[in-house]
Amino acid sequence: MNTVAAYAVVDQFGIENLKPIAREQQPLGHYEVRVRMRACSLNYRDILMVRGQYNPKQPLPLVPLSDGVGEVVEVGSRVSRVAVGDRVAGIFAQGWTSGAPTRERIRSTLGGPVDGMLSAERVLDEEGVVRVPELLSDTEAATLPCAALTAWTSLVTQGDVGPGDTVLLQGTGGVSIFALRFAKLLGARVIITSSSGEKLERAQELGADHVINYAEVREWGRMARDFTGGVGVDHVVEVGGAGTLAQSLKAVRVGGHVSVIGVLAGAVQPVNVIPILMNNIRLQGIIVGSRDGFEAMNRAIAQHEVRPVIDRIFDFDDSVGAFEHLAAARHFGKVCISFR
Ligand SMILES: NC(=O)c1ccc[n+]([C@@H]2O[C@H](COP(=O)([O-])OP(=O)(O)OC[C@H]3O[C@@H](n4cnc5c(N)ncnc54)[C@H](OP(=O)(O)O)[C@@H]3O)[C@@H](O)[C@H]2O)c1
Repeated sequence: MNTVAAYAVVDQFGIENLKPIAREQQPLGHYEVRVRMRACSLNYRDILMVRGQYNPKQPLPLVPLSDGVGEVVEVGSRVSRVAVGDRVAGIFAQGWTSGAPTRERIRSTLGGPVDGMLSAERVLDEEGVVRVPELLSDTEAATLPCAALTAWTSLVTQGDVGPGDTVLLQGTGGVSIFALRFAKLLGARVIITSSSGEKLERAQELGADHVINYAEVREWGRMARDFTGGVGVDHVVEVGGAGTLAQSLKAVRVGGHVSVIGVLAGAVQPVNVIPILMNNIRLQGIIVGSRDGFEAMNRAIAQHEVRPVIDRIFDFDDSVGAFEHLAAARHFGKVCISFR
């Protein structure tokens, strides 16, 4: 019997309970592909999942991580979408290929509830993978399925951001740095916040037009608005959640758009709804994106040679170190794991 090396939260939640395991190699169905993994990337969601904070009822063991890239090494007899040798990523929600999200389409997300990509080999349905842009390295490509697509869905699919628009980004984590890349690609002006002066300098090097240290400026929403001559920003990529929404509502213009994405600053807090209705603000919840969106984003990445920003690459054997590094929030951009 062949076995496959993986990491899993086996008995109880917690990064410290993430253990190397050996799983039985899965047989291949007619419409499935076997992918030899080359690289993964981490998202904040993976930390919540491993800690049992995302879904305390998540059955264990669970192999974490929604994001991974590998080479197709075997295909089922009826597979037609990809071929042996193709380099592919799994799509975040395995059942969401196109159109709007439905309960059914977003049920099977990788890295919980479905086993994720932190495994030397994965068997996936051919509908659940996409080819990744050739110009990207394996680790770069492994950053795309969740963080990049979320930023893309926020700004392009839902936000309709265009040249001359002003986009407000919060912090310098995975989603926000991709949003910085895409916003500049779309010709928008970017205001970005961070708790670190050094990270703000790096954001400026990547094209950020205005920076705010949110640890020093409590009224950063007002300051962002001031950068627009008092009009307000067109779009906010809200990764902070309940703890930052009040400032985002101060920053956004009348009729502006707030993509509600994350919970870095908490999920529950009272909110004053008056500015939302008085200023005709559109609050749009975002759940990553569809395979169609992923493929559209990949075409833009290939055409404009957009390079993901990688903070650090850990070896597969040091997967726990990668989780601890992300949890410490000292990173800028993406944290990755390599299987080589
Ligand atoms: N809805 C979806 O589909 C979706 C998809 C992806 C991610 N998310 C969510 O979006 C959020 C971001 O995910 P990620 O993977 O990009 O996270 P990440 O890489 O772990 O981001 C961490 C960074 O966020 C910044 N941050 C933390 N608290 C903040 C605050 N109060 N105000 C502003 N910035 C703050 C910090 O930046 P500085 O160090 O620069 O201060 C920190 O380094 C998470 O809540 C995640 O669960 C949701």
